[in-house]
Amino acid sequence: MKVTVVGAGNVGATVANVLATKNICSEVVLIDIKEGVSEGKAMDIMQTAHMLNFDTTVTGVTNDYAATANSQVVVVTSGIPRKPGMTREELIGTNAKIVKSVVDQALKYSPDAIFIIISNPMDAMTYLTLKDSKLPRNRVLGQGGMLDSSRFRYFLSKALQKAGYPATPTDIDGTVIGGHSDKTMVPLTSIATYRGIPVKQLLTDEQLKEAVEQTKVGGATLTKLLGTSAWYAPGAAAAAMVEAIALDAKKLIPCCVYLDGEYGEKDLCIGVPVVLGKDGMEKIVEYKLEGDEKAKFDESVQAARNTNSKLGDALK
Ligand code: 2OP
Repeated sequence: MKVTVVGAGNVGATVANVLATKNICSEVVLIDIKEGVSEGKAMDIMQTAHMLNFDTTVTGVTNDYAATANSQVVVVTSGIPRKPGMTREELIGTNAKIVKSVVDQALKYSPDAIFIIISNPMDAMTYLTLKDSKLPRNRVLGQGGMLDSSRFRYFLSKALQKAGYPATPTDIDGTVIGGHSDKTMVPLTSIATYRGIPVKQLLTDEQLKEAVEQTKVGGATLTKLLGTSAWYAPGAAAAAMVEAIALDAKKLIPCCVYLDGEYGEKDLCIGVPVVLGKDGMEKIVEYKLEGDEKAKFDESVQAARNTNSKLGDALK
């Protein structure tokens, strides 16, 4: 499989690097507008091939979309990242223009590609990509839920450790739905488990609430620490989505997709559990949200609609 990663910043380079180490693609093309950066990062990654034992060819190009031709998956990381104190939503004006132009160019050379959008505000950028490209919804996915669920698993494992259970993140099953947004993402405590044991039986409401709050501001916490937004987990999350597509794995992964009646919503892109395989989104899994989860999801939907309304002219 040939994969293009647009944007050779921290996130894009991490996607290319993780994909290479997974050894599941024949070729990864890293493309950026900054002269030399993709070429340099691709060469650096290729110089790990012997140590890390992979046969994927990673190439870097400067703004040469012809080199991306016939990619099966295009991962879009382009745009500016947030700085400490900023919300993802504040990036909308700048990133909408960039994402639109990137998708147009990539689609010209890879008309059959599945797009995975990482650029923020991710839910709105996914919606913009879908509307602008007019692609069928199975081929436009946003990366957010996989990352947020992984963060949720990490924070739940820390909470369990504090409570006396020696949990690691891989012991935990946890899902986050809703928008990829500090205020309105919805970590689902009702279905989170520690090796099958519901975490709500092991943690107090207070401890669960703390893990939920830490998850919601997971990206902002890292932005404050790093001075820019995170890259290892966002990059690995997108690579995991590519892997499910490349291997036709039919994995259930929370990601941002266009809803057409599912969860009672229409005409927006937001995070829900999705089966990912060779066709991209193959199924949306709907299940009954518990307690206040439905109200929280509705709130997240409203926030996503509000952000979409700021896309303005970009949608035309
Ligand atoms: C994050 O949450 C970059 O949005 C991404 O870290």
